[in-house]
Amino acid sequence: MADVKKLYIKTYGCQMNVYDSERMAEAMAGAGYVETQDPTEADMILLNTCHIREKAAEKVYSELGRLRGLKVEKPDLKIGVAGCVAQAEGEEIMRRQPLVDLVVGPQSYHRLPEMEARLREGGKAIDTDFPTEDKFDTLRHRPKSARGPTAFLTVQEGCDKFCAFCVVPYTRGAEVSRPPERVLEEARDLVERGVREITLLGQNVNAYHGAGLGEDWSLARLIWALNDIEGLARIRFTTSHPKDMSDDLIAAHGECPKLMPYLHLPVQSGSNRILKRMNRGHTAEDYLRLIERIRAARPDILLSGDFIVGFPEETEADFQDTLDLIATVGYGTAYSFKYSTRPGTPAAERIQIPEEVKSERLLRLQALISNQQRAAQEAMVGRKVSVLFEKPGRLSGQIVGKSDYLHAVHVTSPTLKPGDLAQVEVLSSGANSLSGRIFAA
Ligand code: 5AD
Ligand code: SF4
Repeated sequence: MADVKKLYIKTYGCQMNVYDSERMAEAMAGAGYVETQDPTEADMILLNTCHIREKAAEKVYSELGRLRGLKVEKPDLKIGVAGCVAQAEGEEIMRRQPLVDLVVGPQSYHRLPEMEARLREGGKAIDTDFPTEDKFDTLRHRPKSARGPTAFLTVQEGCDKFCAFCVVPYTRGAEVSRPPERVLEEARDLVERGVREITLLGQNVNAYHGAGLGEDWSLARLIWALNDIEGLARIRFTTSHPKDMSDDLIAAHGECPKLMPYLHLPVQSGSNRILKRMNRGHTAEDYLRLIERIRAARPDILLSGDFIVGFPEETEADFQDTLDLIATVGYGTAYSFKYSTRPGTPAAERIQIPEEVKSERLLRLQALISNQQRAAQEAMVGRKVSVLFEKPGRLSGQIVGKSDYLHAVHVTSPTLKPGDLAQVEVLSSGANSLSGRIFAA
Protein backbone atom coordinates (compact mmCIF):
# COMPACT_ATOMS: atom_id res chain seq x y z
CA MET A 1 0.00 0.00 0.00
CA ALA A 2 1.18 3.45 -0.84
CA ASP A 3 2.15 5.71 2.06
CA VAL A 4 -0.77 7.57 3.56
CA LYS A 5 -0.02 11.26 3.68
CA LYS A 6 -1.86 13.81 5.74
CA LEU A 7 -3.55 16.97 4.56
CA TYR A 8 -4.54 19.86 6.79
CA ILE A 9 -6.87 22.47 5.27
CA LYS A 10 -7.60 25.74 7.02
CA THR A 11 -10.73 27.36 5.63
CA TYR A 12 -11.49 31.07 5.77
CA GLY A 13 -14.59 32.94 4.65
CA CYS A 14 -17.84 31.85 3.11
CA GLN A 15 -19.72 28.58 2.76
CA MET A 16 -18.45 28.27 -0.76
CA ASN A 17 -14.96 27.96 0.64
CA VAL A 18 -16.17 25.25 3.04
CA TYR A 19 -17.59 23.40 0.05
CA ASP A 20 -14.40 23.93 -1.96
CA SER A 21 -12.26 22.64 0.92
CA GLU A 22 -14.29 19.41 0.91
CA ARG A 23 -13.73 19.12 -2.84
CA MET A 24 -9.98 19.74 -2.41
CA ALA A 25 -9.82 17.01 0.23
CA GLU A 26 -11.59 14.64 -2.16
CA ALA A 27 -9.25 15.51 -5.03
CA MET A 28 -6.25 14.92 -2.79
CA ALA A 29 -7.69 11.62 -1.52
CA GLY A 30 -6.99 10.44 -5.07
CA ALA A 31 -3.33 11.35 -4.53
CA GLY A 32 -3.14 9.30 -1.29
CA TYR A 33 -3.92 12.03 1.24
CA VAL A 34 -6.24 11.73 4.24
CA GLU A 35 -7.42 14.79 6.12
CA THR A 36 -6.14 15.64 9.56
CA GLN A 37 -7.30 18.26 12.05
CA ASP A 38 -3.77 18.66 13.39
CA PRO A 39 -1.40 20.85 11.37
CA THR A 40 1.67 19.50 13.17
CA GLU A 41 1.20 16.02 11.71
CA ALA A 42 0.42 17.25 8.17
CA ASP A 43 2.48 16.52 5.07
CA MET A 44 0.64 19.26 3.26
CA ILE A 45 -1.07 22.39 4.57
CA LEU A 46 -3.52 24.29 2.40
CA LEU A 47 -4.88 27.69 3.38
CA ASN A 48 -8.21 28.17 1.61
CA THR A 49 -8.37 31.94 1.72
CA CYS A 50 -11.05 34.60 1.45
CA HIS A 51 -10.56 38.04 -0.06
CA ILE A 52 -13.96 39.60 0.58
CA ARG A 53 -13.01 41.89 3.41
CA GLU A 54 -10.25 43.83 5.03
CA LYS A 55 -6.55 43.07 4.87
CA ALA A 56 -7.17 39.54 3.62
CA ALA A 57 -3.80 39.23 1.91
CA GLU A 58 -1.92 40.58 4.94
CA LYS A 59 -3.63 38.05 7.20
CA VAL A 60 -2.59 35.23 4.88
CA TYR A 61 1.03 36.43 4.92
CA SER A 62 1.10 36.50 8.70
CA GLU A 63 -0.48 33.02 8.88
CA LEU A 64 2.21 31.81 6.44
CA GLY A 65 4.85 33.38 8.67
CA ARG A 66 3.50 31.36 11.59
CA LEU A 67 3.89 28.16 9.56
CA ARG A 68 7.62 28.72 9.13
CA GLY A 69 8.43 26.83 12.36
CA LEU A 70 6.60 23.72 11.13
CA LYS A 71 8.46 23.82 7.84
CA VAL A 72 11.82 24.13 9.62
CA GLU A 73 11.00 21.05 11.72
CA LYS A 74 9.73 19.14 8.72
CA PRO A 75 11.41 20.30 5.49
CA ASP A 76 9.25 17.96 3.38
CA LEU A 77 6.08 19.73 4.48
CA LYS A 78 4.31 21.29 1.49
CA ILE A 79 2.47 24.55 1.96
CA GLY A 80 -0.18 25.78 -0.44
CA VAL A 81 -2.45 28.81 -0.75
CA ALA A 82 -5.87 28.34 -2.34
CA GLY A 83 -8.99 30.46 -2.68
CA CYS A 84 -9.56 34.08 -3.58
CA VAL A 85 -6.33 35.52 -2.16
CA ALA A 86 -4.45 32.96 -4.28
CA GLN A 87 -6.39 34.17 -7.31
CA ALA A 88 -5.82 37.84 -6.55
CA GLU A 89 -2.14 37.66 -5.57
CA GLY A 90 -0.91 34.84 -7.84
CA GLU A 91 2.88 34.55 -8.10
CA GLU A 92 3.35 37.46 -5.73
CA ILE A 93 2.64 35.03 -2.87
CA MET A 94 5.71 32.94 -3.70
CA ARG A 95 7.83 36.03 -4.16
CA ARG A 96 6.86 37.44 -0.77
CA GLN A 97 6.84 34.14 1.07
CA PRO A 98 9.27 31.63 -0.45
CA LEU A 99 8.11 28.80 1.84
CA VAL A 100 4.95 28.54 -0.26
CA ASP A 101 5.12 25.58 -2.65
CA LEU A 102 1.76 25.82 -4.33
CA VAL A 103 -0.73 28.52 -5.33
CA VAL A 104 -4.09 27.42 -6.68
CA GLY A 105 -7.06 29.58 -7.70
CA PRO A 106 -10.69 28.60 -7.04
CA GLN A 107 -11.23 27.33 -10.58
CA SER A 108 -8.34 24.87 -10.58
CA TYR A 109 -8.84 22.54 -7.61
CA HIS A 110 -9.32 19.49 -9.80
CA ARG A 111 -5.71 19.96 -10.90
CA LEU A 112 -4.34 19.66 -7.36
CA PRO A 113 -3.12 16.04 -7.71
CA GLU A 114 -1.02 16.96 -10.77
CA MET A 115 0.30 19.98 -8.95
CA GLU A 116 1.22 17.85 -5.94
CA ALA A 117 3.12 15.46 -8.23
CA ARG A 118 5.14 18.43 -9.47
CA LEU A 119 6.01 19.31 -5.86
CA ARG A 120 7.24 15.78 -5.21
CA GLU A 121 9.65 16.23 -8.11
CA GLY A 122 11.07 19.20 -6.26
CA GLY A 123 9.30 21.98 -8.13
CA LYS A 124 6.71 24.59 -7.23
CA ALA A 125 3.24 24.78 -8.70
CA ILE A 126 0.95 27.66 -9.56
CA ASP A 127 -2.41 27.60 -11.32
CA THR A 128 -4.76 30.57 -11.30
CA ASP A 129 -6.34 30.01 -14.74
CA PHE A 130 -10.02 30.08 -15.46
CA PRO A 131 -10.05 26.76 -17.36
CA THR A 132 -12.91 25.75 -19.64
CA GLU A 133 -13.42 22.27 -18.14
CA ASP A 134 -15.87 21.86 -15.23
CA LYS A 135 -13.80 21.51 -12.08
CA PHE A 136 -16.70 19.80 -10.30
CA ASP A 137 -17.10 17.33 -13.13
CA THR A 138 -13.54 16.13 -12.75
CA LEU A 139 -14.14 15.72 -9.03
CA ARG A 140 -17.18 13.49 -9.50
CA HIS A 141 -15.63 10.16 -8.68
CA ARG A 142 -15.49 10.67 -4.99
CA PRO A 143 -15.42 8.21 -2.13
CA LYS A 144 -18.90 7.20 -0.90
CA SER A 145 -18.28 8.07 2.72
CA ALA A 146 -21.22 8.75 5.06
CA ARG A 147 -22.16 12.38 5.54
CA GLY A 148 -23.82 14.43 8.24
CA PRO A 149 -27.45 15.54 7.84
CA THR A 150 -26.68 18.87 6.13
CA ALA A 151 -24.54 19.68 3.11
CA PHE A 152 -23.65 22.53 0.79
CA LEU A 153 -23.83 22.06 -2.94
CA THR A 154 -22.35 24.66 -5.27
CA VAL A 155 -24.57 25.26 -8.29
CA GLN A 156 -23.28 28.59 -9.54
CA GLU A 157 -20.06 30.51 -9.26
CA GLY A 158 -18.78 33.93 -10.12
CA CYS A 159 -20.61 37.17 -10.66
CA ASP A 160 -21.24 39.66 -13.48
CA LYS A 161 -22.76 42.37 -11.30
CA PHE A 162 -19.63 44.35 -10.43
CA CYS A 163 -20.84 46.07 -7.29
CA ALA A 164 -18.35 48.89 -6.81
CA PHE A 165 -17.03 47.50 -3.49
CA CYS A 166 -16.68 43.81 -4.36
CA VAL A 167 -13.78 41.61 -5.49
CA VAL A 168 -15.85 38.55 -6.38
CA PRO A 169 -16.18 39.32 -10.12
CA TYR A 170 -12.37 39.54 -10.23
CA THR A 171 -11.42 36.58 -8.00
CA ARG A 172 -14.22 34.15 -8.91
CA GLY A 173 -14.66 35.33 -12.48
CA ALA A 174 -17.75 35.53 -14.66
CA GLU A 175 -21.02 33.94 -13.67
CA VAL A 176 -21.19 30.24 -14.52
CA SER A 177 -23.94 27.73 -13.68
CA ARG A 178 -23.46 23.98 -13.40
CA PRO A 179 -25.72 21.81 -15.57
CA PRO A 180 -28.86 20.69 -13.68
CA GLU A 181 -28.18 16.99 -14.36
CA ARG A 182 -24.83 17.30 -12.53
CA VAL A 183 -26.43 19.09 -9.60
CA LEU A 184 -29.24 16.54 -9.31
CA GLU A 185 -26.77 13.68 -9.54
CA GLU A 186 -24.66 15.17 -6.76
CA ALA A 187 -27.78 15.81 -4.65
CA ARG A 188 -28.94 12.17 -5.02
CA ASP A 189 -25.47 11.01 -4.06
CA LEU A 190 -25.51 13.21 -0.95
CA VAL A 191 -28.94 11.89 0.06
CA GLU A 192 -27.74 8.28 -0.35
CA ARG A 193 -24.94 9.17 2.02
CA GLY A 194 -27.28 10.45 4.73
CA VAL A 195 -27.83 14.11 3.86
CA ARG A 196 -31.35 15.43 4.55
CA GLU A 197 -30.87 19.16 3.97
CA ILE A 198 -29.06 20.71 1.03
CA THR A 199 -28.07 24.37 0.77
CA LEU A 200 -27.47 25.40 -2.82
CA LEU A 201 -24.55 27.79 -3.04
CA GLY A 202 -23.61 30.50 -5.46
CA GLN A 203 -22.26 34.04 -5.22
CA ASN A 204 -25.35 34.94 -7.19
CA VAL A 205 -27.31 31.77 -6.72
CA ASN A 206 -30.66 33.08 -7.92
CA ALA A 207 -29.08 34.08 -11.23
CA TYR A 208 -28.66 30.32 -11.80
CA HIS A 209 -29.43 29.33 -15.39
CA GLY A 210 -28.23 25.81 -15.97
CA ALA A 211 -28.29 24.39 -19.48
CA GLY A 212 -30.13 21.10 -19.21
CA LEU A 213 -31.64 18.88 -21.89
CA GLY A 214 -31.53 21.76 -24.36
CA GLU A 215 -33.37 24.08 -22.00
CA ASP A 216 -32.47 26.88 -19.66
CA TRP A 217 -33.22 25.89 -16.06
CA SER A 218 -33.96 28.59 -13.52
CA LEU A 219 -33.11 28.15 -9.85
CA ALA A 220 -36.82 27.60 -9.13
CA ARG A 221 -36.98 24.76 -11.64
CA LEU A 222 -33.90 23.21 -10.07
CA ILE A 223 -35.48 23.49 -6.61
CA TRP A 224 -38.66 21.79 -7.82
CA ALA A 225 -36.58 18.94 -9.28
CA LEU A 226 -34.73 18.58 -5.96
CA ASN A 227 -38.08 18.59 -4.21
CA ASP A 228 -38.82 15.25 -5.93
CA ILE A 229 -35.78 13.50 -4.44
CA GLU A 230 -37.02 11.02 -1.90
CA GLY A 231 -35.17 11.20 1.40
CA LEU A 232 -34.25 14.85 0.96
CA ALA A 233 -36.25 16.84 3.50
CA ARG A 234 -35.10 20.45 3.14
CA ILE A 235 -33.76 22.81 0.51
CA ARG A 236 -32.12 26.20 1.07
CA PHE A 237 -30.09 28.51 -1.15
CA THR A 238 -27.70 31.42 -0.68
CA THR A 239 -26.71 34.17 -1.64
CA SER A 240 -29.28 35.99 -3.75
CA HIS A 241 -29.32 39.34 -5.52
CA PRO A 242 -32.57 41.36 -5.47
CA LYS A 243 -32.46 41.85 -9.24
CA ASP A 244 -32.52 38.09 -9.86
CA MET A 245 -35.45 37.30 -7.59
CA SER A 246 -37.67 35.96 -10.39
CA ASP A 247 -41.43 35.32 -10.22
CA ASP A 248 -41.05 31.54 -10.27
CA LEU A 249 -38.62 31.66 -7.35
CA ILE A 250 -40.94 33.88 -5.32
CA ALA A 251 -43.82 31.51 -6.09
CA ALA A 252 -41.69 28.50 -5.07
CA HIS A 253 -41.35 30.05 -1.62
CA GLY A 254 -45.11 29.76 -1.25
CA GLU A 255 -45.60 26.41 -2.94
CA CYS A 256 -42.57 24.16 -2.81
CA PRO A 257 -42.92 21.95 0.29
CA LYS A 258 -39.21 21.32 0.88
CA LEU A 259 -38.04 24.90 0.30
CA MET A 260 -37.44 26.40 3.74
CA PRO A 261 -38.95 29.75 4.83
CA TYR A 262 -35.65 31.61 5.06
CA LEU A 263 -34.14 34.01 2.55
CA HIS A 264 -30.81 35.78 2.61
CA LEU A 265 -31.33 38.82 0.39
CA PRO A 266 -28.60 41.45 0.80
CA VAL A 267 -29.48 45.07 0.03
CA GLN A 268 -26.22 46.66 1.36
CA SER A 269 -27.72 50.15 1.83
CA GLY A 270 -31.10 51.87 2.15
CA SER A 271 -30.00 55.07 0.38
CA ASN A 272 -30.77 55.34 -3.33
CA ARG A 273 -27.80 57.64 -3.83
CA ILE A 274 -25.42 55.11 -2.28
CA LEU A 275 -27.08 52.15 -4.01
CA LYS A 276 -26.41 53.92 -7.29
CA ARG A 277 -22.79 54.62 -6.37
CA MET A 278 -22.50 50.95 -5.38
CA ASN A 279 -23.76 49.97 -8.85
CA ARG A 280 -26.39 47.71 -7.31
CA GLY A 281 -28.92 48.18 -10.11
CA HIS A 282 -31.92 48.61 -7.79
CA THR A 283 -33.40 51.23 -5.48
CA ALA A 284 -34.54 50.89 -1.88
CA GLU A 285 -38.16 51.03 -3.11
CA ASP A 286 -37.51 48.18 -5.59
CA TYR A 287 -36.19 46.14 -2.69
CA LEU A 288 -39.13 46.94 -0.41
CA ARG A 289 -41.64 46.07 -3.14
CA LEU A 290 -39.82 42.79 -3.67
CA ILE A 291 -39.98 41.98 0.03
CA GLU A 292 -43.73 42.63 -0.04
CA ARG A 293 -44.16 40.18 -2.90
CA ILE A 294 -42.05 37.53 -1.17
CA ARG A 295 -44.04 37.93 2.03
CA ALA A 296 -47.28 37.72 0.09
CA ALA A 297 -46.10 34.32 -1.18
CA ARG A 298 -44.76 33.15 2.20
CA PRO A 299 -45.91 35.37 5.08
CA ASP A 300 -43.78 33.68 7.76
CA ILE A 301 -40.50 33.82 5.80
CA LEU A 302 -37.48 34.86 7.87
CA LEU A 303 -35.37 37.44 6.08
CA SER A 304 -31.69 38.05 6.42
CA GLY A 305 -29.45 40.63 4.77
CA ASP A 306 -25.99 42.11 4.38
CA PHE A 307 -25.19 45.77 5.04
CA ILE A 308 -22.13 47.87 4.38
CA VAL A 309 -21.70 51.01 6.44
CA GLY A 310 -19.34 53.85 5.60
CA PHE A 311 -19.28 53.29 1.85
CA PRO A 312 -17.45 56.27 0.25
CA GLU A 313 -19.55 59.45 0.35
CA GLU A 314 -22.14 57.98 2.76
CA THR A 315 -23.65 60.88 4.72
CA GLU A 316 -25.52 60.67 8.02
CA ALA A 317 -28.75 61.07 6.01
CA ASP A 318 -27.79 58.14 3.74
CA PHE A 319 -27.04 56.05 6.81
CA GLN A 320 -30.39 57.04 8.32
CA ASP A 321 -32.06 55.74 5.14
CA THR A 322 -30.40 52.37 5.82
CA LEU A 323 -31.69 52.33 9.40
CA ASP A 324 -35.16 53.23 8.12
CA LEU A 325 -35.09 50.41 5.59
CA ILE A 326 -34.07 47.94 8.30
CA ALA A 327 -36.88 49.20 10.53
CA THR A 328 -39.37 48.75 7.69
CA VAL A 329 -38.25 45.26 6.66
CA GLY A 330 -37.72 43.65 10.07
CA TYR A 331 -34.90 41.15 9.68
CA GLY A 332 -34.61 37.84 11.47
CA THR A 333 -30.86 38.20 11.28
CA ALA A 334 -28.32 40.21 9.28
CA TYR A 335 -24.62 40.58 8.63
CA SER A 336 -23.05 44.01 8.67
CA PHE A 337 -19.63 45.27 7.76
CA LYS A 338 -17.62 48.45 7.72
CA TYR A 339 -16.70 49.27 4.16
CA SER A 340 -13.11 48.34 3.47
CA THR A 341 -11.21 49.10 0.29
CA ARG A 342 -10.43 46.24 -2.07
CA PRO A 343 -7.63 47.20 -4.47
CA GLY A 344 -8.78 47.13 -8.07
CA THR A 345 -12.45 47.83 -7.31
CA PRO A 346 -13.97 51.21 -8.34
CA ALA A 347 -14.88 52.33 -4.80
CA ALA A 348 -11.29 51.92 -3.60
CA GLU A 349 -10.33 55.06 -5.56
CA ARG A 350 -12.98 57.27 -3.96
CA ILE A 351 -12.81 59.55 -0.93
CA GLN A 352 -13.08 57.38 2.14
CA ILE A 353 -15.18 57.84 5.28
CA PRO A 354 -13.14 58.17 8.51
CA GLU A 355 -12.75 54.97 10.50
CA GLU A 356 -14.41 56.42 13.66
CA VAL A 357 -17.51 57.36 11.67
CA LYS A 358 -17.74 53.86 10.22
CA SER A 359 -17.32 52.25 13.64
CA GLU A 360 -19.95 54.44 15.23
CA ARG A 361 -22.46 53.74 12.43
CA LEU A 362 -21.77 50.04 12.59
CA LEU A 363 -22.56 50.00 16.31
CA ARG A 364 -25.88 51.76 15.77
CA LEU A 365 -26.85 49.49 12.90
CA GLN A 366 -25.91 46.37 14.83
CA ALA A 367 -27.93 47.49 17.85
CA LEU A 368 -31.00 47.81 15.63
CA ILE A 369 -30.41 44.45 13.96
CA SER A 370 -29.84 42.64 17.23
CA ASN A 371 -33.10 44.02 18.62
CA GLN A 372 -34.90 42.69 15.56
CA GLN A 373 -33.09 39.38 15.84
CA ARG A 374 -34.05 39.02 19.49
CA ALA A 375 -37.67 39.92 18.72
CA ALA A 376 -37.82 37.40 15.87
CA GLN A 377 -36.39 34.71 18.13
CA GLU A 378 -38.74 35.53 21.00
CA ALA A 379 -41.69 35.44 18.62
CA MET A 380 -40.95 31.73 18.15
CA VAL A 381 -41.69 30.94 21.80
CA GLY A 382 -44.89 28.91 22.08
CA ARG A 383 -44.77 27.94 18.40
CA LYS A 384 -44.18 24.50 16.95
CA VAL A 385 -41.31 24.25 14.52
CA SER A 386 -39.77 21.36 12.67
CA VAL A 387 -36.15 20.75 13.67
CA LEU A 388 -33.50 18.79 11.81
CA PHE A 389 -31.10 17.57 14.48
CA GLU A 390 -27.41 17.83 13.70
CA LYS A 391 -25.21 17.12 16.72
CA PRO A 392 -25.07 16.62 20.49
CA GLY A 393 -25.49 19.78 22.55
CA ARG A 394 -23.18 21.17 25.23
CA LEU A 395 -25.05 19.57 28.12
CA SER A 396 -25.38 15.83 28.46
CA GLY A 397 -28.53 14.41 26.87
CA GLN A 398 -28.96 17.54 24.76
CA ILE A 399 -29.20 17.50 20.99
CA VAL A 400 -29.05 20.55 18.71
CA GLY A 401 -30.49 21.24 15.31
CA LYS A 402 -31.97 23.95 13.11
CA SER A 403 -35.57 25.00 12.71
CA ASP A 404 -37.11 25.66 9.29
CA TYR A 405 -36.22 29.31 9.94
CA LEU A 406 -32.58 28.41 10.64
CA HIS A 407 -32.75 29.14 14.35
CA ALA A 408 -30.55 26.87 16.45
CA VAL A 409 -32.83 24.78 18.68
CA HIS A 410 -31.81 22.43 21.47
CA VAL A 411 -33.87 19.83 23.28
CA THR A 412 -33.11 17.15 25.82
CA SER A 413 -33.87 13.75 24.42
CA PRO A 414 -32.32 10.35 25.04
CA THR A 415 -33.58 8.89 21.76
CA LEU A 416 -33.08 11.51 19.07
CA LYS A 417 -29.97 11.29 16.91
CA PRO A 418 -28.37 13.47 14.22
CA GLY A 419 -30.41 13.28 11.01
CA ASP A 420 -33.76 12.98 12.82
CA LEU A 421 -36.45 15.48 11.99
CA ALA A 422 -38.99 16.23 14.71
CA GLN A 423 -41.68 18.71 15.69
CA VAL A 424 -40.56 20.82 18.61
CA GLU A 425 -42.54 23.15 20.80
CA VAL A 426 -40.36 26.20 21.53
CA LEU A 427 -40.26 26.93 25.26
CA SER A 428 -37.72 29.73 25.58
CA SER A 429 -35.34 31.97 23.67
CA GLY A 430 -31.71 32.34 24.76
CA ALA A 431 -28.85 34.49 23.48
CA ASN A 432 -28.24 32.59 20.27
CA SER A 433 -30.62 29.68 20.35
CA LEU A 434 -34.06 28.42 21.23
CA SER A 435 -34.83 25.64 23.60
CA GLY A 436 -37.84 23.37 23.35
CA ARG A 437 -39.40 19.99 23.88
CA ILE A 438 -40.32 17.27 21.45
CA PHE A 439 -43.89 17.60 20.39
CA ALA A 440 -44.04 14.80 17.88
CA ALA A 441 -41.30 12.81 16.19
N1 5AD B 1 -16.21 46.01 2.36
C1 5AD B 1 -17.14 45.62 3.28
N2 5AD B 1 -18.01 44.63 3.08
C2 5AD B 1 -17.97 43.98 1.89
N3 5AD B 1 -18.71 42.97 1.40
C3 5AD B 1 -18.26 42.69 0.18
N4 5AD B 1 -17.25 43.49 -0.16
C4 5AD B 1 -17.05 44.34 0.89
C5 5AD B 1 -16.14 45.39 1.15
N5 5AD B 1 -15.25 45.80 0.24
C6 5AD B 1 -19.84 42.37 2.13
C7 5AD B 1 -21.16 42.59 1.39
C8 5AD B 1 -21.45 41.21 0.83
C9 5AD B 1 -20.83 40.33 1.90
C10 5AD B 1 -20.57 38.92 1.47
O1 5AD B 1 -19.62 40.98 2.23
O2 5AD B 1 -22.14 42.98 2.31
O3 5AD B 1 -22.83 40.98 0.65
FE1 SF4 C 1 -20.11 40.98 -5.16
FE2 SF4 C 1 -22.59 40.04 -4.71
FE3 SF4 C 1 -22.23 42.42 -5.96
FE4 SF4 C 1 -21.59 40.12 -7.22
S1 SF4 C 1 -23.65 40.79 -6.57
S2 SF4 C 1 -20.36 41.98 -7.19
S3 SF4 C 1 -20.82 38.87 -5.51
S4 SF4 C 1 -21.69 41.88 -3.83
